[in-house]
Amino acid sequence: MSAFVTLSSGQRMPVIGLGTWKSAPGQVKQAVLAALDCGYRHIDCAAAYGNEREVGEALAVWVGPGKALRREEVFVTSKLWNTKHDPGDVEEACRTSLAHLGLSYLDLYLMHWPMAFQRGTELMPKREDGSICYSNTHYRDTWMAMESLVDKGLVKAIGLSNFNARQTDDIISIARHKPVVNQVECHPYLSQTEILSHCRSAAVCVTAYSPLGSGDRPWATSDEPRLLEDPRLGAIAQRYQKSPAQVILSRLYCEWNLSVLYHRWHVQRGVVSIPKSVTPSRIQQNLEVFDFSLSPEDIDLIESFNRNTRFIVPTVEREGKRVWRDAEHPHFPFN
Ligand code: A2P
Repeated sequence: MSAFVTLSSGQRMPVIGLGTWKSAPGQVKQAVLAALDCGYRHIDCAAAYGNEREVGEALAVWVGPGKALRREEVFVTSKLWNTKHDPGDVEEACRTSLAHLGLSYLDLYLMHWPMAFQRGTELMPKREDGSICYSNTHYRDTWMAMESLVDKGLVKAIGLSNFNARQTDDIISIARHKPVVNQVECHPYLSQTEILSHCRSAAVCVTAYSPLGSGDRPWATSDEPRLLEDPRLGAIAQRYQKSPAQVILSRLYCEWNLSVLYHRWHVQRGVVSIPKSVTPSRIQQNLEVFDFSLSPEDIDLIESFNRNTRFIVPTVEREGKRVWRDAEHPHFPFN
C-alpha cells in the first residue's frame, strides 16, 4: 500500500514509485512484476533507459481488461529524450514509448532535460572529438508540442525533469497545460530546499530521482560518498529497526481528530520518491515505509547531512579534470 499526492491536474500519484533507470534488460521485467505484486502502483520509465519494451511486457501481465489491475489503477510516467525536442518529433517519440509500454496513454510525460540534442536515432549524438552535438531548439517550443499530446489524449499530464527554478517559471509563464511535476535528483546529500519550495509555491510536485544516492550509477568512483553506507543514517535506522533506505523513504501517517496525512523526510515535504531496485526483497522493503514515523529531531538530523552533492550530472574528462559535460549549454540547469 502506498500513499498519494494530488497533482495540480487532480490526478492522484502514489508517493513511492519503482525507478527503472539502470535496470538492465533481462532484469527489469522481473523487477516490475515484483513491484506490482507487492503493491506498487507507480512505475517511472523513460525512452532513454532503453528498457521500455520489457517494462511493457510486465505491465501486460498485470494491467488491462481481464487482468488483475485496471489501467487507471497504475500511474505510468515516461520521458521525452533530448534528441526528440524538435516539435516535429515529439508526438512520434511519445507514440514510440506508448507502443513499447503497450499503453494507449501515459499518466505523465516529462521533458527529461532542458537541453536539446541533435535530432536523430542516436541517444548521444557526438562529434569526432567526443563532444555532444546540441540543437538550438528551445525547451519552450518543445513544451508547446508536448501540450498537444494532452489535447490528443495521449498523455494525462505533462511535466519537467532537471529544470531549475527559473526554467520552471519560464515554462509556467507560457503554458496552456501547466507542468504538474518537476523530477529532480534529491536525497539527504542533496536536499534541494530551494527548488522544493519554489515548486511548492507554484503547485508543481517534486519527484525525487536517485533518492537512495544511486550507488549503481555507471560513473561512480570509489572516493565518492556512499549515502546508504553513511553510519549516521545507519544509527537512525537502527533506532527504528528499519533499513537506511527505509529511513530515507519513510513517512508517517498521523491521525488527529481530523484525518491528517503527515509526510516525513521526502514525503513530509510532499516529495514523491522513485527508488530503483531489481532485487525483489528491496523492492518490497522500499514500500514498507508507512508503518513508522521519524521524530522531528531525526528529520532535522537528516536535513543536516545535506552537502549539495549531485551524483547525476554527466561529466567528461577535460585537461585531466572531470567537468560537467553540458555546462556550457545555454539551457544547462545547474550553473
Ligand atoms: P539493486 O537494484 O541491485 O537492488 P537509486 O534509486 O538512488 O538510483 O538507488 C538504486 C541503487 O540502490 C541500486 O544499486 C539498488 O540496488 C540499490 N537499492 C535499492 N533499494 C535498496 C535497499 N532497500 N537497500 C539497499 N540498496 C538498495
